[in-house]
Formats: sequence, structure tokens, C-alpha cells
Amino acid sequence: MTKIPTHVAIILDGNGRWAKAKGLPRTAGHVQGAKNVEKMCEVAYHKGIQYLTLYAFSTENWKRPQDEVSAIMQLLRNYMASCLKLAKKNNMSVRVLGDMTRLDKDLQERIAELERVTKDYTGLHLQIALNYGSRDEITRAVKKLGTEIEEGRLNPEDITEDCISKALDTFEIPDPDLMIRTSGEQRLSNYLLWQLAYAELYFTPVPWPDFDEAELDKALEAYQNRDRRYGLVKEE
Ligand code: FPP
Repeated sequence: MTKIPTHVAIILDGNGRWAKAKGLPRTAGHVQGAKNVEKMCEVAYHKGIQYLTLYAFSTENWKRPQDEVSAIMQLLRNYMASCLKLAKKNNMSVRVLGDMTRLDKDLQERIAELERVTKDYTGLHLQIALNYGSRDEITRAVKKLGTEIEEGRLNPEDITEDCISKALDTFEIPDPDLMIRTSGEQRLSNYLLWQLAYAELYFTPVPWPDFDEAELDKALEAYQNRDRRYGLVKEE
């Protein structure tokens, strides 16, 4: 393939429906979803994708039944441990986006360790959005800039788009070129609203546990056929 997006962001949707269709509990769908994350990180990297950002848990997901929230948190806990081994093996850096303060202390510590150990790795850059909501991220960024103004380190006149980008959880990460949402829904659900301003959007009915290399190829093919010269004159 000729034109591979540098950064792909994915909304992992449909774990629950995948499980239900097989007569399994919803948590079985999340287990399969987590396995697929491991597989697809390697696949994405071999395709030449440099940044992959996955929506694992939104600020709204706390409203789910307590046992499902606990099961997802336990999966993420396990994932952070196995991810450390995988990251070392594949030279993968991992960063978590979102408000960590609401997570259990031990999970916060695992995340901090994972980020610290992998931060200089130069293979795939994996971002996991966890207790993430774009409006929450933007609100926290505005607070940071407000504090800088209050402390006399920033002049309001000097605020640029770049300043705002740097205050977001995604600082130093290029904006996504392609956003994929699995399992049929066609909305952004409070995901990377600032960063997706110019991204191509791709929606597929395939649920996340079934989203494999062939499905990623379809998304990349659709991306290659899009006209990316926004703002410029289109060829007739
Ligand atoms: C979306 O399916 C999945 C979630 C909100 C759960 C979190 C994702 C995982 C456990 C995958 C693991 C992620 C990592 C980074 C290891 P859904 O429950 O919304 O499905 P539904 O729309 O069919 O109900």
C-alpha cells in the first residue's frame, strides 16, 4: 500500500454485542477484545502505522453495572502487566490518555511504570484512552493554561492552537489521520474532538473482537481513496 496513515485512532466498540451473539456474558467479549488489542498492535505496526490510539474506557463508562466496570478494570490491570513484556519485545512505547486520578492506586502505579519504562521505545507508539473524555481533557487543559496565566507565565494574547495542543493529554503526538469505529455506531462519543479535526472517519459494522488484519486493510484502502487536500482546490 502506498499511503499509510501515521496515526490511527480506534473506538473499540461491540465487545458486548459480540459476546451476546454467541450466548456469552458481556465480560467474555471484553476478554476477547483485550486479546485482539495485543494482536492488532503488532498488525498495525507491521503495516507501517506509527501511532495507534485506542479508546478503552470513557468517562461515561463508569455508569455501567458495577460488576462489568470491575471486570474491565481487572482486564486492564492484567493488560498493563502483559503489555510491559510485549512492549519490551516489540520496542513499543505506551502512554495512557485521560484522568488517572479516578483509577485505583495500584492501577495508577502500573500505568506510571509502563509509561516510564517504555517512554523512549521507538517502535509503535500506543496510546490507551482510559477514563478519557475529550471534553474533560479540554477542560483540564484550559485549567492548566489558566494557572499559567494566573502565575504570570503566560500572556492570554500569546495563546495559539499549538499552546492548546500542548496542554492536552496527547502533547507531542501528531493528530490522527484516520479514525476507525467498529460495530456500526457512527458517532465520535467524546473521543479526541480537538485532535480529529482533519481526520478521515471510517465506520464498520464489524465488532471489535472480529476486527482483524483483513478489516484493517479495508479501512486503510478506504483511507487511500480519500481526497486529503482539505481547503485546497479539488481536481475536476
Ligand atoms: C466496547 O464494547 C468496549 C469497552 C467500552 C470496554 C473496554 C475495552 C476493552 C476491555 C478492550 C481492552 C482494551 C485494552 C486497551 C486492553 P461495548 O461493551 O461498548 O460493546 P457493546 O456496544 O456491544 O455493548
